[in-house]
Amino acid sequence: MPDLTVPAIERAVAAIALPVLGADLASLGARVEATADGGAVSVRLRLDLPVDSLREALARAIGEAVHALDAGARVSASVETAIIAHRPQGNLPSMQKVRNVIAVASGKGGVGKSTVTVNLALALAAEGARVGILDADVYGPSQPRMLGLLGQKPESRDGKTFEPLVAHGLEVISIGFLVDQASPVIWRGPMVTQAITQLGFQTNWHDLDYLLVDLPPGTGDTQLTLSQKVPLAGVLIVTTPQQLATEVAQRGLKMFEKVGVPVLGVIENMSSFICPKCGHEESLFGEGGGEQLAASCGVPLLGRVPLNSAIRAQTDAGRPPLVAEPDGPVARRYREIALRAAAALAGRPQGQAHRFPPIVEERR
Ligand SMILES: Nc1ncnc2c1ncn2[C@@H]1O[C@H](COP(=O)(O)OP(=O)(O)O)[C@@H](O)[C@H]1O
Ligand SMILES: [Mg+2]
Repeated sequence: MPDLTVPAIERAVAAIALPVLGADLASLGARVEATADGGAVSVRLRLDLPVDSLREALARAIGEAVHALDAGARVSASVETAIIAHRPQGNLPSMQKVRNVIAVASGKGGVGKSTVTVNLALALAAEGARVGILDADVYGPSQPRMLGLLGQKPESRDGKTFEPLVAHGLEVISIGFLVDQASPVIWRGPMVTQAITQLGFQTNWHDLDYLLVDLPPGTGDTQLTLSQKVPLAGVLIVTTPQQLATEVAQRGLKMFEKVGVPVLGVIENMSSFICPKCGHEESLFGEGGGEQLAASCGVPLLGRVPLNSAIRAQTDAGRPPLVAEPDGPVARRYREIALRAAAALAGRPQGQAHRFPPIVEERR
């Protein structure tokens, strides 16, 4: 059995392409350890992204890769997720108990930034990650409503820190929990930055793999200061296909690049309209905006979300598609985007060691 050597097995496994992403495991920073004892092969795969829905397919693919080397091999495969902390911009101290903070930004308001944030957070959680949301949109905090938490208040046990609220498995803190949403506060720039950074740092998160920050819309001073104060592993840019929205998004994208925050990719929202009656797909706001933006800035287009009245109805009612119809086509779309975003981060350099051990899931 000359082909069944450990290096040959590890090479074959590293070359497996991950479904949805198309990328091979090696390029996603996956770690492969194999042992071969006669015809008994054991493979341990550790991935820096949550892959619960792909776990079985991956274990099968490992079996096939080994059998291509030796049809008679007996294979046992384990697929684990161990999400590492990636290096934030500058030398910012990391947030305690949060491995990766990812900002979700948009040039304009109303492009669906909050909707994308909550559905991607739920999608990452559905894939097995520990996820939180920091709703930093002081001008229109919408996570309390989108997660069915309106009117609730976070507890503070010591008078200094907050306990995050929990909804659909996500930890959530929102500026909307602390201010009266009916009589909006007039925020001045420095107040916004201070309130948001305090909220992020003074919340008792519980070992999160990802904390998604729903930023205020725009690319002004507030966003600039925030992206210099909050340790960001990356940022996701949400845009609609309209020219105007993408031009504004491009300015935002450049701003994050300038302060050293890696842009993980662009998500095009409200790309097309699918008629609920006949299923016909129509591009209402023009085509290719997200693609152009991504290409002109050299970042990936992570996916498109169609304009779909169920997304609005479900999300605004506190049960986003990932909760209301977790196996439906819309949820699948968000899951693919979430996987691509996690994969974009998985290719980035590692940050400092955190004070808590990685969560290791194992299934044989
Ligand atoms: N893909 C979509 N299809 C239909 N409605 C959407 C979609 N994305 C967002 N919406 C709706 O559009 C409105 C604005 O979205 P929101 O996420 O609050 O935007 P932003 O946070 O950028 O201001 C909300 O009512 C939301 O339900
Ligand atoms: Mg919003």
